[in-house]
Amino acid sequence: MDIQEWEQLHTDAFYDVKRALPYLEGMFVAYNSNIDAIKHLTKEDLSRFIGFFNEAEIQARVETYPREVKEPLDFMARLLISMREGKAAEIPTYTSDTHVWLKEHLGFDYARMGGQAGIISNLLTQIGLKKVVAYIPWLSEEQADYFVDSDNLLHPKVEDGKVVLKPPRQAFKPGLESKVNWIFEYSKELEITCGGNKFKVPRDNRLIISSRPKWIRLDMDREIYEHLDSLFPIDGAMLSGYQMIKERYEDGTTYKDYVSHSVNAIEKLKALNPELRIHVELTSIQNRVIRKAILTEIVAKNVHSLGLDTVEVANALNVLGHEELSYSVIRKEETGITSLYQGAVQLLKDLSLERVHVHCLGFYICVLSKDHPLTLKEHRDALLFSSTLASTKALKGKIENLEDVAAGLEVPVSSKGIEDLENFKVYCVGKKLCTPEDFEHGYLYGPDHDAVLVPTKVVDKPTVTVGIGDTISAGAFAAMLAKMKQTQVEE
Ligand code: GLC
Repeated sequence: MDIQEWEQLHTDAFYDVKRALPYLEGMFVAYNSNIDAIKHLTKEDLSRFIGFFNEAEIQARVETYPREVKEPLDFMARLLISMREGKAAEIPTYTSDTHVWLKEHLGFDYARMGGQAGIISNLLTQIGLKKVVAYIPWLSEEQADYFVDSDNLLHPKVEDGKVVLKPPRQAFKPGLESKVNWIFEYSKELEITCGGNKFKVPRDNRLIISSRPKWIRLDMDREIYEHLDSLFPIDGAMLSGYQMIKERYEDGTTYKDYVSHSVNAIEKLKALNPELRIHVELTSIQNRVIRKAILTEIVAKNVHSLGLDTVEVANALNVLGHEELSYSVIRKEETGITSLYQGAVQLLKDLSLERVHVHCLGFYICVLSKDHPLTLKEHRDALLFSSTLASTKALKGKIENLEDVAAGLEVPVSSKGIEDLENFKVYCVGKKLCTPEDFEHGYLYGPDHDAVLVPTKVVDKPTVTVGIGDTISAGAFAAMLAKMKQTQVEE
């Protein structure tokens, strides 16, 4: 299919999903939200920044690949790594020193809603879902202000031993501090010289320094867990933030406690509505023990759907024992997309999922189990809908309602994305995954799975990069659920 046809399919899918969305009763979204302090880095910022350090020391630190920010040099090293590759990363910091240092030495441009669950709740509310129930265990008063003020967005609150749903601004826990993350966004083509090395940033992306204050617990309040039925009716849950789990806590608890609580919550949600679908949105998880536990204990067998980007596919494969495949996903080169597809299939199987949605710049791959209730065309519409949402977000920095999304429909489909997919065709046809004609439509039929591949709309100079992945995953998952409900009702 040529670009024009993909443009038309985007438009048709958008209006089609728009009609389906009212069939959804509600979506539950937990656990993480924070305030993102966003700084868009200019060339001047960078040279000033590098000037705070000794360049040889920066290089030496780059070699050690720090997985935590203990001091500013760790941050500088990870920033350079992220920029060199154009790859998103999120690095935790457990002290407030980093925050103080960044504030004094760099500052930020503006603050906005951050955290996957926070971003997803606002998005789903603004595209008009009937009911979005957000749950943030550490909802502070200040954080509550970052949620959109709208009747369809609610948060559980314990009142007189009962669980009631209230707007977030009436449901915060008094006296809590807020979690602030630093987001360093950079643009492609930026030239960096450091320690005698020179490189050009290959794509727009960001590095996140994620604050992990001691008091943060990825958990659900007992009363809310006991009365989870008060959140219903809901058709789906989008869960994220598990990266916050630590191996050990000062109070003697370990990750095992929080992993098992998380699984209990999922089981309870499913018991309350056996039709409920659960999506987990991954992000970078530096600690390998935690990464593995999240995948093999929380995601595997318990959830239906997983959303992630290329780096996260590689990282997931790595802890699941598929090192070679993991490296070839990262290495990209010509076989990049083939490895990525094989990686997504591997995740679907290893984790017993119904759906794995990989978002890349220019295209999405969505691998599906054979017993999935929707047709590949319906899945494709869900993906195209999310591509339009994401391009709107990248273009305008925000989405206030579905009318705003008309702007996204004007963003062109990526010709690079079409080209990348085209290069994958020979493999697919050769492996008998599809006929050349199926491939044109984006449909693959594997022996034990199906898949949909679509080129997507890409904004040349994005206003933001943070939260785009969340927008894609949430848009596609909600669209898919809406189509499922619509089919049920109309049958
Ligand atoms: C992670 C980060 C958060 C950011 C979000 C965007 O949750 O911790 O700061 O807003 O990702 O996807």
